[in-house]
Amino acid sequence: MTKKNVTFASKMGLIATTVGSAVGLGNIWRFPAEAQAGGGAAFLFLYIACVVLLGIPVMVAEMSLGRAGRSDAIGAFRNISHDSKWWIVGLGCIVACYLIMSFYMVIEGWTAAYLWESLTGGLYEGVSADTTGEASAILQERMRGYISDPWFPLITMWVVTGINAVILLGGVKKGLERISNVLMPMLFGVLLLLCFVTLSLPGAGAGLEFFLRPDFSKITSQVVIGALGQTFFSLSLGMGILITYAGYYPGDTHLLRTSGIVGGMSILVGLLMGFIIFPAVMSFNLTGESLEGTTLVFVTLPEVFAAMGTPQLWSSLFFLLLLVAALTSTMSGLEVVIRFLQDRTGMNRVRACLISVSLLVALSTLCCLSFGPLKDYTIGGLTIFSLLELISTDIMLPVISICLCLYMGWFAPKGLLRRQLTNEGTIPGREVGVERLILRYFAPFVIVAILLARFI
Ligand code: TRP
Repeated sequence: MTKKNVTFASKMGLIATTVGSAVGLGNIWRFPAEAQAGGGAAFLFLYIACVVLLGIPVMVAEMSLGRAGRSDAIGAFRNISHDSKWWIVGLGCIVACYLIMSFYMVIEGWTAAYLWESLTGGLYEGVSADTTGEASAILQERMRGYISDPWFPLITMWVVTGINAVILLGGVKKGLERISNVLMPMLFGVLLLLCFVTLSLPGAGAGLEFFLRPDFSKITSQVVIGALGQTFFSLSLGMGILITYAGYYPGDTHLLRTSGIVGGMSILVGLLMGFIIFPAVMSFNLTGESLEGTTLVFVTLPEVFAAMGTPQLWSSLFFLLLLVAALTSTMSGLEVVIRFLQDRTGMNRVRACLISVSLLVALSTLCCLSFGPLKDYTIGGLTIFSLLELISTDIMLPVISICLCLYMGWFAPKGLLRRQLTNEGTIPGREVGVERLILRYFAPFVIVAILLARFI
């Protein structure tokens, strides 16, 4: 095991890095869209329930496995249950993580493109400040132009992949942790600033009311499935990320408290995004427009910025926020693969970084081209992008999470969960019994039920 003794340098760094992995495009662009479709606060309650009852227990299970195994996602299973086939679940984690990263990188590239276009002002050329629909048409057309261009999105995507690689080459403490310590406070700063600005717009109250008044009639089985998917995706579950990161946690890290903080931050960012988006959209009378992820971020919000005056400033800040959120998430995904290559083959970090990044560049390039030159290349009616998204997010993440729950609930060595939750008996472990019940019965049952409802 090449990296057995590496741990995060500080508690703050450990939290910043783990929260950085969790808070990403999922919270910022997916959450508001799902909330709009799911009855505002009704969806928020549902999401909070999913995070508390399922997300956090599964997170604790992954972290316990990771800290006990102290290796990559496969090695952790091997170190704990030597002669079993459970390592296949670890392999599944790594594959799911790679597939997710390959389409996530595409959006990260678009974000970088939009940041560039906001800084240079190209995005707002000829866009007037009134929201008559003309601005919408121009911005819509501009988005279509950007993402189907054969080169522009590719180049920005390669640049951000390069940034990921440079950070990761620095290692766990000097790369991941140090950069998260800077980027995460910055992310929260920008988020609060934007919140403050949109909440002081005229008519913001109506937007808040729209967001915070729960409409339970909108909760359908589809919405419940959406909330569960959102929970797994936004907490980075089932991708081996928490197994890998917890391998770097010191022995005295309080796992339950850490997962509570990560879950809480993920909810908070979604909530703050709601505070930003709904008042802004309401204030400029854009309620008729779709808040669906892509349109929301790349068309509706730029329209809001155009109407606010100084669009370049707000737009640059927003896309910077989005880029930071995405970057700290892909860093965590790449770390899973790097640790895997290091621990399984014994290769050094530089080589592991280069190999994992090159492979990612190849896959994400294919995904990126599926919006342009490869648009008509479909499998079962789905583009490469949509197919990868379906397989990884909707199928692999829940299946892997069920396996993780069953392993930690039933098959892991006796006492392992208790030792991890109580830090070898040094802190009280009142919740171990409840955690075990959730892992054994509740979580697998609920996830299977929702999976079946999705596909039958
Ligand atoms: N949690 C992230 C989000 O909400 C998603 C994510 C986590 C991710 N880890 C990742 C995406 C690794 C790609 C690669 O957006």
